[in-house]
Amino acid sequence: MAFQVSQRSKEAIPGPRGGILARHLTAYEADPVGFLEDCRRRYGDVFRFDTDVVVVTDPDLVTEVLARTNRDSVPNANPLHGGRFPTPEQTRRWMDARQLAAPIFRSASLPSRLPVVQAALASDLDALDGTWFDPSDACWAICVRALLPLYLPSESPALVDAVLASFDAARGAAEAAVRVPSWMPSRLRRRVRNADQHVRDTITPMLGCPHADASATMLGHIQAQPETVPSDIAMGAMGFTLLGAIGTMGAAWCWILYYLAAHPEAADRIREEATTATGITKDPARALPYTWAFAQEVLRLRPPAWLLGRDAITDVNLGDAEVPAGTAIMFSPYLLHHDERWWTTDPHKFSPERWLDTARPHTPGAYLPFASGPRGCLGTHLGLAILALTAVHITTQKRLDVPNLETITTYFGPSTLTPATMKARLTPK
Ligand code: HEM
Repeated sequence: MAFQVSQRSKEAIPGPRGGILARHLTAYEADPVGFLEDCRRRYGDVFRFDTDVVVVTDPDLVTEVLARTNRDSVPNANPLHGGRFPTPEQTRRWMDARQLAAPIFRSASLPSRLPVVQAALASDLDALDGTWFDPSDACWAICVRALLPLYLPSESPALVDAVLASFDAARGAAEAAVRVPSWMPSRLRRRVRNADQHVRDTITPMLGCPHADASATMLGHIQAQPETVPSDIAMGAMGFTLLGAIGTMGAAWCWILYYLAAHPEAADRIREEATTATGITKDPARALPYTWAFAQEVLRLRPPAWLLGRDAITDVNLGDAEVPAGTAIMFSPYLLHHDERWWTTDPHKFSPERWLDTARPHTPGAYLPFASGPRGCLGTHLGLAILALTAVHITTQKRLDVPNLETITTYFGPSTLTPATMKARLTPK
């Protein structure tokens, strides 16, 4: 693929003069996507965004960076944890936790738990009947309760509360961290640490207490390992995979409601499909092809993780450019998903149908709602299944009102993309 990049040395990677933080922050904050698109048009597919930040907008290059995560780079250092890179040992331990957790999320494992996930979703949606709510407030708790059947054989309000408190602390601090230097001792950071500890304290006794019905859950899976799993790896699989899922899952869930309301014709088609479908919880992708395509399209137009990055831990070649170790390499699924160069039909149009063709509707690497590579999403199939089951329950059981559709805006947050000021109501049909 012919991407445009400066032929000059790393110092010459083009970009806004003075760096964005120095001179362009206001323009960026007012319209982050417009600003990035403008930079891309002016400077090409690899441009300097700030002194130590490079943005890549070419799918091949992004894929290469993602594929080499853990070798050339690590996911962006979290400013709340001091902004430090993980040590190789920490990365190895996390990869062990990931590997331990992965079988629970494979599509072949899901049928045994999806009926419980479906019941949890239905119960939470039913509980909203008749009330006005903002999906971007309600979504987090709904998603935690929908995910919990993958982890535990029975409900655990204590774990739901602990996880939500931890997520809330991290989200609040992420919003503030944009302006708080990472070295500064802060109350927010302490709150995050305490909330994380509370999650650990809630999970630890569960790990030590075998449960007869836990076989198809993360807890049972950990307890069934032939050798005792080190506690930090067990905690990674039980706690941090769950925490890692909430932000993107919750934001995606909000957008499902938005697009169901904005496209009643699509909602009708989902209802028709669901009415005659069989095996919805066994294989939702196969049972509900249009609904699945709808969820894929929602994630294309509004990818919750709209801006992602890696921190180079060695010098990295990006096409003809070389970026030194220490540089943050950013890429935007949102930009890739809306770039006409990479899509066979108009990427600005809402069209679930584009996913129903056998041919892929985009250049490889241009659709990245779940990122890719060794640190890509662990819950891809489960995430789409939860979105599809939500769409089915709403279209078949509820009337959805969103009176302020026209005024809803997109909030490009530091961690996720959510609809701002959305007001919704569900009433039983
Ligand atoms: C539609 C819903 C979801 C979306 C859009 C989504 C998106 C993503 C993205 C973009 C990443 C990569 C972040 C990066 O590269 O820095 C990620 C990572 C991750 N996701 Fe998801 N996700 C979703 C649902 C889930 C679910 C249901 C789970 C499982 C419970 C899950 C577990 C994880 C974990 C554990 C990671 C961290 C991977 C690592 O650092 O090794 N996600 N997700």
